[in-house]
Amino acid sequence: MPSGTDSTTDLLVVRGLRTTLRTPRGPLAVVDGADLRVPRRTTVGVVGESGSGKTMFARSLMNLLPAGAEVTAEELTFDDRELDPRRPPHRHFWGTEISMVFQDPMTALNPVRTVGAQICDPLRVHQGMGRGVARRRAAELLGHVGIPAPWSRLDQYPHELSGGMRQRVMIAVAISCEPKLLVADEPTTGLDVTVQRQILALLRRLKDEHGMAMLLISHDIALLADEVDQVGVMYAGQVVEHTDVAQIRGKAVRHRYTRALLQAHPDVNAPARTRLESIPGGPPDLLAMPEGCRFAARCEHAREICRATAPQPTRDPRTGAAFTCHFPHEPAEELV
Ligand SMILES: Nc1ncnc2c1ncn2[C@@H]1O[C@H](COP(=O)(O)OP(=O)(O)OP(=O)(O)O)[C@@H](O)[C@H]1O
Ligand SMILES: [Mg+2]
Repeated sequence: MPSGTDSTTDLLVVRGLRTTLRTPRGPLAVVDGADLRVPRRTTVGVVGESGSGKTMFARSLMNLLPAGAEVTAEELTFDDRELDPRRPPHRHFWGTEISMVFQDPMTALNPVRTVGAQICDPLRVHQGMGRGVARRRAAELLGHVGIPAPWSRLDQYPHELSGGMRQRVMIAVAISCEPKLLVADEPTTGLDVTVQRQILALLRRLKDEHGMAMLLISHDIALLADEVDQVGVMYAGQVVEHTDVAQIRGKAVRHRYTRALLQAHPDVNAPARTRLESIPGGPPDLLAMPEGCRFAARCEHAREICRATAPQPTRDPRTGAAFTCHFPHEPAEELV
């Protein structure tokens, strides 16, 4: 685990998380032994290619999974309390302890209810506010997330708002009960660059003001390099490296997959944003997972042992980074 992360400062500890979906093709382990820690008041980014399990990981924490899904974990601790991953946390947990901003605001917001009603609901249920007080607080929250003329927005429906405004409304709903952890799943996907920056700045401000921790999910490692304190790299349902962002910025990462991601972004410190797309090959089929390292088939450094045996988690004594790789990148190796 990266520096500054230990059991006394961790808000969330996830060890050996497994999420299995029931599908027509059989049980599908979409998260398969993932470990991640989120220290208090810290932003941890989660990066990985499409299909690596980022959304399923987040939804498993919230217990918002398709029917029939099974979740197990060796450890799942939140705010020093042990949670049972097989049992959904009680409703009061959502919103007040952990809250989530979803990948697609149009499906997450209810299209037939006004913005005001959707912000007032959690305030009335969790904080026991009366109608008038909740409405005043809802307008205040809309103002807080940068929506102009908030009172007039309360009676509008989601489809009457722009994509950026909808995303702000969803953030207002998510922070309304001041959660300790905000999970933001690709909160700026589909928004233009200017709005994207505004939303990220908003999340940063809210996090600082409320002392929240944040799990920020993205497929864009350059974006995360600007926004987060630590990065967890997901590959085929596992977190293959968890490191301080300094190692990402300095390209001093250890796992060969993280290294390949950075090579797909020649300048991680440049403002231009590009999508991850240049690692040859594709991730393994979830129904035919290889015995050894899951990245071996795409890794130019793979040897026999990589194909035969899954690497165990290792800790870099210098940086505290955790990674699972038989032949990790040595930061002294010449950067290509
Ligand atoms: N409802 C579902 N039924 C069956 N398989 C699913 C379902 N939802 C997701 N999956 C599969 O689970 C795996 C992980 O999906 P997930 O949505 O977590 O990926 P992701 O990393 O969030 O990708 P993206 O960057 O595209 O959002 C993928 O292989 C996906 O096809
Ligand atoms: Mg996703």
